[in-house]
Amino acid sequence: MEQLRCFMAGNQTPALTDRFSRPLHDLRISVMDRCNFRCPYCMPEATYHEHFRFLEPKERLSFDEIERVARVAVSLGVRKLRLTGGEPLLRPKLPELVARLASIEGVEDIALTTNGVLLERHVQDLKEAGLNRVTVSLDSLDPAVFARMSGGRAQLEPVLEAIEAAQTIGFSGGVKLNTVVQRGLNDAGVEALAERFRHSGVVLRFIEYMDVGTRNHWERAEVVPSRELRERIDARWPLEPVDAHYRGEVAQRYRYCDGAGEVGFISSVTAPFCGDCSRARLSSEGQLYTCLFASEGRDLRTLLRSDADDAALRDLLAGVWRRRTDRYSEERAASSDAPARRRIEMNYIGG
Ligand code: GTP
Ligand code: 5AD
Ligand code: SF4
Ligand code: SF4
Repeated sequence: MEQLRCFMAGNQTPALTDRFSRPLHDLRISVMDRCNFRCPYCMPEATYHEHFRFLEPKERLSFDEIERVARVAVSLGVRKLRLTGGEPLLRPKLPELVARLASIEGVEDIALTTNGVLLERHVQDLKEAGLNRVTVSLDSLDPAVFARMSGGRAQLEPVLEAIEAAQTIGFSGGVKLNTVVQRGLNDAGVEALAERFRHSGVVLRFIEYMDVGTRNHWERAEVVPSRELRERIDARWPLEPVDAHYRGEVAQRYRYCDGAGEVGFISSVTAPFCGDCSRARLSSEGQLYTCLFASEGRDLRTLLRSDADDAALRDLLAGVWRRRTDRYSEERAASSDAPARRRIEMNYIGG
C-alpha cells in the first residue's frame, strides 16, 4: 500500500509523498522559541510577560541534532531549509549552524526569517557561512506604529539599516520583507511601505493576519484581505501578475508595470494554498509538525537522544509524512470561523 503513494523521482529514488500526493520539499527549522519583540499577532506582551517560561537551553535541539534531522530530511527529498524562531538570531553561533547545513549534499537553498534587529552585526558571517536568502519582518515605516507592533521592544532605524546592509552584502536569493497587516493597527501604512521599497530590489510581501496559535485572540475582522491591499497599491502604481517561481509558492507575485520591481501577497485566509504545501516544521524543542496550524507534533528529540540510528529517524519522518492529511487553511476557509482546536504557537513552531 505504502508503495502506491510513492512515485519515481528521476530514475531511482521513490519520492516520498503524503496522502494528497504532496512531496516533502521544505524543512522550516525553529532554532529559538524566544524573541526580542512582542508583536501583537504573534507573542502578545500580556501572555509573553517577564515570567513566561521559555525553553531551557538543554531542552532545545543542539546543532548536532538539528543537522542530523536535516540530513535525514534531505535524504527524503527536502531541498529548502529555512531558519526561523521566535528570533533565530538570539540563538548563539547561528552562522555555525548555517555552515553545517550548507555542507549537506542536496541542500539547494538556506533562508533565514528574522526581525532584523540583530541582523546587521551577523549578516557578513551568515553570508560567508552559506546563507542564500534573508527575509526581514517589517510591519510599518511609522516609528510609533513600528514600536507598537514590536510590543515597545524595538526601534525602526536599526531594522532599516540591517535591510540595507543585507542588500549591500548581497544574497544570491535576494532580500525579502514580510509585513503582517492587522486592521486598525498598521493597515494605513501599506502604501508608504510599497513606495519605499519600489525600485529597491527588495521584494515586499503583505501577509494576511492568521490564526496561528490561540494567544493572539485572532478575529477575522482584523484580517485585511490581500485583494483590498492589491487594489489599493494598484490604484497608485498599476500591477500585473507574475507566474509563480515554483509549484506551491506561498506568495502571489505581482510586478509594477512601470518596472519598479515586485510585490507579493500571502493570503492564507482568503486564498489558502494547502494544495501544494510541501513544508514540514521542526520546533526548537524537536517536535516535528506537518502544518503551521498543527495541534500535535511528533517528538524527535527522544529518539535523537536515544541510541537509535539514522534509519530509525528516517522511518519516523517518512511515516509521519506518508500519513499527512493537513489542509488547515482550506478547512478554515470553508467554515465561518477558525476551527476550534488547540494550535501550536508561532514562536514555537516557526513562521
Ligand atoms: P519563499 O517563497 O521561499 O521565499 O518563502 P515563503 O514565501 O514561504 O516565505 P516565508 O517563509 O517568509 O513565509 C512568509 C509567511 O508566509 C510566513 O511568515 C507565514 O506567515 C506564511 N506562511 C509560510 N508558510 C506557510 C504555510 O505553510 N501555511 C500558511 N498558512 N502560511 C505560511
Ligand atoms: N499571521 C501572519 N503571519 C504571522 N507571522 C507571525 N505571526 C503571524 C500571524 N499571526 C509571521 C511574521 C513574521 C514571521 C516570523 O511569521 O511575518 O515575519
Ligand atoms: Fe518575534 Fe517574529 Fe513573532 Fe514578532 S512575529 S514576536 S518578531 S517571532
Ligand atoms: Fe500547509 Fe497547513 Fe499552511 Fe495549509 S495551513 S499551507 S497544510 S502549513
